[in-house]
Amino acid sequence: MHILVIGSGGREHALVYALNKSPSVGKIYAAPGNGGINKIAIKAEIDIKDFSQIADFCTSHHIGLVIIGPEDPLVAGMADFLTKAGIKTFGPSAAAAKIEGSKQFMKDCAKKYQLNTAQYANFNDPVAAKNYVYEKGAPIVIKTDGLAAGKGVIMAQTETEAYQAIDEMFEGRFGESGKKIVIEEFLYGEEASFFAICDGQNAIAFGSAQDHKAVGEGDTGPNTGGMGTYAPAPVVTDVIHQQIMDTIINPFIKGMADDGNPYVGVLFAGVMIKDGEAKLLEFNVRFGDPECQVLMARLDCDILPILLAACDKKLDEVTITFKKDTALCVVMASKGYPGSYEKDTEIKNLEVAELLPDTIIYHAGTKYQGNRLLATGGRVLGVTALGKDVAAAQKKAYQAVDLIDWNNGFCRRDIGWRAVERLKK
Ligand code: AMP
Ligand code: GLY
Repeated sequence: MHILVIGSGGREHALVYALNKSPSVGKIYAAPGNGGINKIAIKAEIDIKDFSQIADFCTSHHIGLVIIGPEDPLVAGMADFLTKAGIKTFGPSAAAAKIEGSKQFMKDCAKKYQLNTAQYANFNDPVAAKNYVYEKGAPIVIKTDGLAAGKGVIMAQTETEAYQAIDEMFEGRFGESGKKIVIEEFLYGEEASFFAICDGQNAIAFGSAQDHKAVGEGDTGPNTGGMGTYAPAPVVTDVIHQQIMDTIINPFIKGMADDGNPYVGVLFAGVMIKDGEAKLLEFNVRFGDPECQVLMARLDCDILPILLAACDKKLDEVTITFKKDTALCVVMASKGYPGSYEKDTEIKNLEVAELLPDTIIYHAGTKYQGNRLLATGGRVLGVTALGKDVAAAQKKAYQAVDLIDWNNGFCRRDIGWRAVERLKK
């Protein structure tokens, strides 16, 4: 079967890398791809904003499955368009993807389906919002409704900070959609990412991971898309895993199906865990990036039948197996990220680092110019290693990082610190 993967990040490289191992996969096409993806997949010369162009490409290239990596095209209805055109597509409809596209909608679903989540209220005007903050007190969390690339969440430590955040949002800092907000109880605890594959009726767990969002060591400094991950997440014990399935994932899938809005694709639940209880922070409608890199590194079965079963409502017929090893991914980014950074700086010695055992280097913002590998984005490489435990995986990942010769790159040196400390105990 020929496959088309939409996206250009480390997440999509991890998907393409996993698909490439499947005996049932024929040609893999990627739009637009990146330096690493385009070494194993054929670049599809299409405009991914033009859904009918994608559909025409799928027809003329006999594509059996389209996999949509990022949230934007899902929220914009790419899966609906392709499915209607008769093209099998892995990813939720726009109506279902609204759970990432609108935080108000997500919280209303959580309330309706009685999922375990933080208390909240939705506001469309600043005065009522401020009154609510006054009543509840700080710390308190203010979230803009629409997609904001992770920047639309303010964790206000004081009421004054909360009032300021409310003013900025209603003054249009995040555009029109930012003038709708959610105000939510501040949750304490340890955060983890939990994944499930869903076919509209059933959900099957796809493992847990933890990421480091902050740019600086010790989880300090501004937030990024993610500076590193590891899987599984030690905080997600078997008991917590079952609890997340029972109190978050399964009731959500049932509620959506009952409301005529079945959820097909990967469901990513961000959870906060404290005192043996997991509460839902957010839903995303895609694999995490860089969580996908560590999930795929651990996957010990063919990915294709799982994705097809989700599209064909046959998830009850598949089993998913993972390696016992821990996977850890260190993101190497361009100096300056998440602020501005220089582009097209050269990376050397990657092919040497890649030879290390149990090591995979996923590309994000890269391109090849002839044989020269250039960094084109903020997050550039996901240096990933497997080890018998998180400390072993961490050691191997940094061995690979240290072989890479890239003057303009940097990474955090403490990815996995919490899990390593837990292991020592
Ligand atoms: P969200 O996009 O809603 O997941 O928010 C981004 C990040 O903000 C999360 O990954 C958490 O680290 C943090 N966060 C969001 N909501 C809360 C909350 N209610 N309490 C504490 N931290 C939160
Ligand atoms: N790494 C977090 C995310 O993909 O949203």
